Amino acid sequence: MTSRPETEQDAVTNAATPEVVANSNKRKVFVRTYGCQMNVYDSERMTDVLAPEGFEATGDLEDADLVILNTCHIREKAAEKVYSELGRIRKVKEARAKAGKDMMVGVAGCVAQAEGEEISRRAPIVDMVVGPQSYHQLPALLEKVRSGKKVVETEFDIDAKFDQLSARAARPVSKRPSAAFLTVQEGCDKFCTFCVVPYTRGAEVSRSVSQIVTEAEQMAASGVREVTLLGQNVNAYHGEAEDGATWGLGRLLRRLAEIDGLDRLRYTTSHPRDMDDDLIEAHRELKSLMPYLHLPVQSGSDKILKAMNRRHTRDEYFRLLDRIREASPDIALSGDFIVGFPGETDQDFEDTLDLIRRVEYGSAFSFKYSQRPGTPGATMDAQVPEDVKSERLAVLQALLSEQQKAFNASRKGMVCDVLLEKAGRNPGQLVGKSPWLQPVQLDAPIDLIGSIQAVEIVDIGSNSLFGRLNAGQDSDDQSVAIPTPAA
Ligand code: 5AD
Ligand code: SF4
Repeated sequence: MTSRPETEQDAVTNAATPEVVANSNKRKVFVRTYGCQMNVYDSERMTDVLAPEGFEATGDLEDADLVILNTCHIREKAAEKVYSELGRIRKVKEARAKAGKDMMVGVAGCVAQAEGEEISRRAPIVDMVVGPQSYHQLPALLEKVRSGKKVVETEFDIDAKFDQLSARAARPVSKRPSAAFLTVQEGCDKFCTFCVVPYTRGAEVSRSVSQIVTEAEQMAASGVREVTLLGQNVNAYHGEAEDGATWGLGRLLRRLAEIDGLDRLRYTTSHPRDMDDDLIEAHRELKSLMPYLHLPVQSGSDKILKAMNRRHTRDEYFRLLDRIREASPDIALSGDFIVGFPGETDQDFEDTLDLIRRVEYGSAFSFKYSQRPGTPGATMDAQVPEDVKSERLAVLQALLSEQQKAFNASRKGMVCDVLLEKAGRNPGQLVGKSPWLQPVQLDAPIDLIGSIQAVEIVDIGSNSLFGRLNAGQDSDDQSVAIPTPAA
């Protein structure tokens, strides 16, 4: 979602892929990723698509021949951050031009989709605007830019994108980190009245089972132990199997659980209406399906849920959680909340707090409502003043933070499996992930990176747990450490 940025969508990452190699003859691409994990996945795939064109990833903006900002449009601030970043890039581009070096600038992702040509108008340094369904065409688009044209490509052709990306993913890769994302579904048909996703990412499209299995096998072969299946509405997955049948997410997870080496499966983000019996049963049956579920509810008020077009009531949400907890008693629940949706009264907000108290979340993300042009919410009456939104958000976050602390504290003294993912800040320290998606810090030899170890939780920090290797209780079936790249 990570070492938990304050909000999931506000995370910014520089996606230099693991296989960055120093080769001065190659051209360099700098990709900055805003927003959700799907953008992280997309950025990695963009770098894959550009590799045969002679590009290698760099984390150094000054060194880049090509800069791509992979943007997020879910809330206003995110788009504004992109424009201010373009201002900084303009200065770097000018400095490079003085040294006789060129720099192409592209804006990809949902801001690109939503704003199109407006981006190059506001920021003339932008050579290329590429919507999220078009980045498999990057090589051809770059060719056009080189011939002096400005490019805006915002067509929706998800099938073509998935086909080309699958071909790319099937190529052997040297090494991958031990945890990876895999997009299985894109777009959304739900049309919640606050949300731009159905407009920026388009209608729901699921990848075929065989494409996903091939990519997952490829990942497992290159050292990935944990795969998180991604989709804007991932549990609406309905992909075609080889015999022409349509599989839901539960069935897909069962198939992926058979892949050797994939010891941990997760999926995000889900809609309560699409949590079907088969998926709930998968939580009961599959040892590799981690006991963590991100199931946004947004509000605890029936009136607001209706105005948001969420298509369920608070009681239906409670009943659903009862069934999920019955199937997987150990499950950690996470959610998203919006405060200050149009028409939200103090009582509606109280209902949200009451829902949170009843559910007891392990973690959650929360946001002030942001009016998104083109969505029904933007023009609704009774918009809530900014200061009221801020007050409500502070109260809500204090409650969620209390619950997160209590959940973390309840892990103290437990022995649990931890996937050791990377070196920690201090020498001799590694950082891993608990089954409940909490970061765990512990002292352990570096060659254990990539393995799953039994760890005793000995202390609790504000955002992470502290553990100790539980000698003699190696939970890694093969007990073989698969090293990850040095980066
Ligand atoms: N304003 C505030 N939060 C929003 N989200 C989506 N759209 C908006 C908006 N207009 C939040 C929702 C969603 C998460 C990804 O972002 O909580 O689940
Ligand atoms: Fe947006 Fe999620 Fe609602 Fe789809 S289900 S419209 S992605 S909030």
